[in-house]
Amino acid sequence: MQTILVTGANKGIGLQLTTQLKERGDNVIAVCRTASPELLKLGPRVIDGIDVGSAGSIEGLKQALGDQHLDVIINNAGILRGDAFGSLNYDEMLEQYSINTLGPLRVTEALVDNLKEGSKVAIVSSRVGSIEDNGSGGYYGYRASKTAVNQIGTNLKIELAPRGIAVVLLHPGLVATEMTGGQGVTPAESARGLIARIDAACMENSGSFWHAEGYELPW
Ligand SMILES: NC(=O)c1ccc[n+]([C@@H]2O[C@H](COP(=O)([O-])OP(=O)(O)OC[C@H]3O[C@@H](n4cnc5c(N)ncnc54)[C@H](OP(=O)(O)O)[C@@H]3O)[C@@H](O)[C@H]2O)c1
Repeated sequence: MQTILVTGANKGIGLQLTTQLKERGDNVIAVCRTASPELLKLGPRVIDGIDVGSAGSIEGLKQALGDQHLDVIINNAGILRGDAFGSLNYDEMLEQYSINTLGPLRVTEALVDNLKEGSKVAIVSSRVGSIEDNGSGGYYGYRASKTAVNQIGTNLKIELAPRGIAVVLLHPGLVATEMTGGQGVTPAESARGLIARIDAACMENSGSFWHAEGYELPW
């Protein structure tokens, strides 16, 4: 049994990660802004009121956890704001940077002492953050926030290597959640793949970027 902290656990991919990890017997700490009835029904330990864009909130998370050891942090919380060249909303671009890029960094930095040798940090990024894979453009703010979190993940790989902590960057696929308006594979299918990739993460492959389906993605 591992102790696994999941952010954005109240719905979508995060709720499915929580469901499946709990089903297999892990001790899940479900972090969210507002707990949903579905999450409460699952019965994990819930720490709510946590906005990953707020330093004060992350301090609250650190306090709530105390010296609780974590085997895995899954940085899943994220937002997508549509945009179009010609009418770009720069405030929304900064908002996406704050949540999608700095959120995983804030959480990992605050909780680093809860990790120990053998622990893992997973970041749910997106393949749209891949520069090499960008053949369709658009989504300026979202893409750039995910490209930047890939760089943060690479830095964390280097930062955390001396402590024996592995980092993995993940693309969940196109998944039918609120974020996509219900297009894509089921959150359950995506979560199964993400959990398999996190299970396979180790010091030897630390810092690599994986599709939930099991193949490595280009940067
Ligand atoms: N769905 C896809 O096809 C897809 C593809 C590639 C990557 N992703 C990534 O997968 C992750 C999960 O997305 P999803 O599809 O499950 O989307 P979702 O259903 O919209 O869920 C997003 C989750 O993030 C949380 N969140 C948003 N802003 C937050 C904040 N400031 N503080 C704390 N939590 C916050 C949401 O909480 P609230 O309910 O409080 O807003 C929710 O729990 C995201 O990082 C997303 O970028 C998704």
